[in-house]
Amino acid sequence: MSDAERILVTGGAGFIGSHLVDRLLAAGARVTVLDNFSTGRDANLAGAAGHDRLSIVRGSVLDAELVDRLVADSSTTYHLAAAVGVRHIVADPLASMLTNVRGTENALASAHRHKVRMLIASTSEVYGRSDQVPFREDGERVLGPTWVHRWSYSTGKAMDEHLAFAYADMGLRVSVVRYFNSYGPRIDESGYGSVIARFAGQALRGEPLTVHGDGAQTRCFTFVSDTVHGTMLAATRDAAVGTVVNIGGQHEVSILTLAEMVRTTLNPRAEIQMVPYESYYPKGFEDTRRRVPDVTRARAVLGFEATVTFEDGLRQTLDWCRRNYAGKPVMH
Ligand SMILES: NC(=O)c1ccc[n+]([C@@H]2O[C@H](COP(=O)([O-])OP(=O)(O)OC[C@H]3O[C@@H](n4cnc5c(N)ncnc54)[C@H](O)[C@@H]3O)[C@@H](O)[C@H]2O)c1
Repeated sequence: MSDAERILVTGGAGFIGSHLVDRLLAAGARVTVLDNFSTGRDANLAGAAGHDRLSIVRGSVLDAELVDRLVADSSTTYHLAAAVGVRHIVADPLASMLTNVRGTENALASAHRHKVRMLIASTSEVYGRSDQVPFREDGERVLGPTWVHRWSYSTGKAMDEHLAFAYADMGLRVSVVRYFNSYGPRIDESGYGSVIARFAGQALRGEPLTVHGDGAQTRCFTFVSDTVHGTMLAATRDAAVGTVVNIGGQHEVSILTLAEMVRTTLNPRAEIQMVPYESYYPKGFEDTRRRVPDVTRARAVLGFEATVTFEDGLRQTLDWCRRNYAGKPVMH
């Protein structure tokens, strides 16, 4: 990457965005972050702050004029800004949807207007509760009813993808990535974003680790360095233009097993408590039982493979949590 490359990262103060910023700076790019710091944090950019090739703009992707100016000034825009995490969406469905749809439309329209290469961050939530596991990019999406707010995150992100493909038809060079449960240092200690963060916070405070439902639901956790690597490949490979690619590892872990691993590492005396979904989420919450990516397209189009093992990634993550969480309250 030459230092002539000017990269805009929306959501660059967030968990994945800040790791992406670090990697782009290391590769020699000029980087501008646009973030409203709603869930993003200064601490995430502490290592990058003050870098002479980094600018940080505090503002919203809902500010179309600001977005247009920043996108126009970039050669590639990575659009990661979003209201993230099913719990946030359930807590404030309207604002979340507007951010996730209108914010993306602003970024896409500007990228199209100024002929800027674009990467859109989507999610494995798009597949909903499909049982066609592993999830293939061209597989069915199975969603619950529209009055169950948790599905609006999936729907909003799917709308982003539809918008991206509509702009692609009009000539925009855009790629979409669907992330599968990214984790690593800087995971959100409020516990909204990641079940790993929630378990780590609970274990470190000596509270019970609360497993929702029967704990048999599984996820494929993807270490953030792999997430970022796949993202950069998707934003730079010509073969990825106009397509959507799963970015995830294939190692499936049940939530109960995860709780046991976190407890063993951080606090063997902590209890594991099974709690019904209704005690945490509004009535009618519907979870996805298994979420496994089909990685055929990621291999073929990007030459991408997640390389960090879950054991290694979890160790690095929990080491970081131990240094950064202890004693801090976690929201419930
Ligand atoms: N972490 C995951 O496992 C995961 C999984 C699937 C998809 N994603 C997607 O990846 C992207 C990054 O997620 P993350 O995990 O880093 O979450 P995050 O909450 O840490 O990052 C989102 C960032 O967007 C910013 N933001 C929110 N609203 C904004 C607005 N109106 N204007 C400007 N900035 C705004 C937040 O302040 C935050 O810095 C999101 O698009 C998310 O939907 C993440």
